[in-house]
Amino acid sequence: MTNIRPYKDNDAPVLITLFTETVRRINISDYTPEQIAVWAPKDEDAASWRERFVRCMTLVAEDERGIAGFGQLEVNGHIDCFYVAHDRIGSGVGSMLLRAIEQRAHELGIGMLHTEASITARPFFARRGFRTVQEQSVARKGIALTNFSMEKDLG
Ligand SMILES: CC(C)(COP(=O)(O)OP(=O)(O)OC[C@H]1O[C@@H](n2cnc3c(N)ncnc32)[C@H](O)[C@@H]1OP(=O)(O)O)[C@@H](O)C(=O)NCCC(=O)NCCS
Repeated sequence: MTNIRPYKDNDAPVLITLFTETVRRINISDYTPEQIAVWAPKDEDAASWRERFVRCMTLVAEDERGIAGFGQLEVNGHIDCFYVAHDRIGSGVGSMLLRAIEQRAHELGIGMLHTEASITARPFFARRGFRTVQEQSVARKGIALTNFSMEKDLG
């Protein structure tokens, strides 16, 4: 059974590996190897990730096999990182995480969620009520990556 819980400091190494593996194995379907290399570099900065895990509200999905995904909500309604483990994609973990984020946003009185969805994640967010505001290009180490600014009114 999958359970959603808050981030704990010792989750950091597992979450960083999950992020790296998912980008390299799943997002590679929609981005070039050069784009993947700047998105999930070999020399990930663990200290800045730790700071980000704490600064954003990070929710962790866990099942009997271990951590299955994580998602982050900021107080302004921004969904920052949102990643499911490469070997659990398509099994409902992302939907569960998003429901938990929406519930948390509701509790905090946040009326609007927004995110920058990858090409890969855009259909997932679209089917869950997010509308595309615009396609955008973000530069990382001089390499352009396409994503989509999306938002959902929680009414
Ligand atoms: C997008 C993502 C978070 C969705 O999580 P998930 O656990 O696979 O989602 P669920 O199993 O709850 O739902 C699967 C849905 O996503 C869609 N989907 C998106 N990418 C998919 C993929 N690579 N494989 C299977 N389904 C995928 C399915 O079509 C399905 O759609 P539907 O239920 O609306 O018909 C996950 O696929 C992921 O981590 N992708 C790569 C990382 C990424 O791009 N993250 C967002 C960064 S902005």
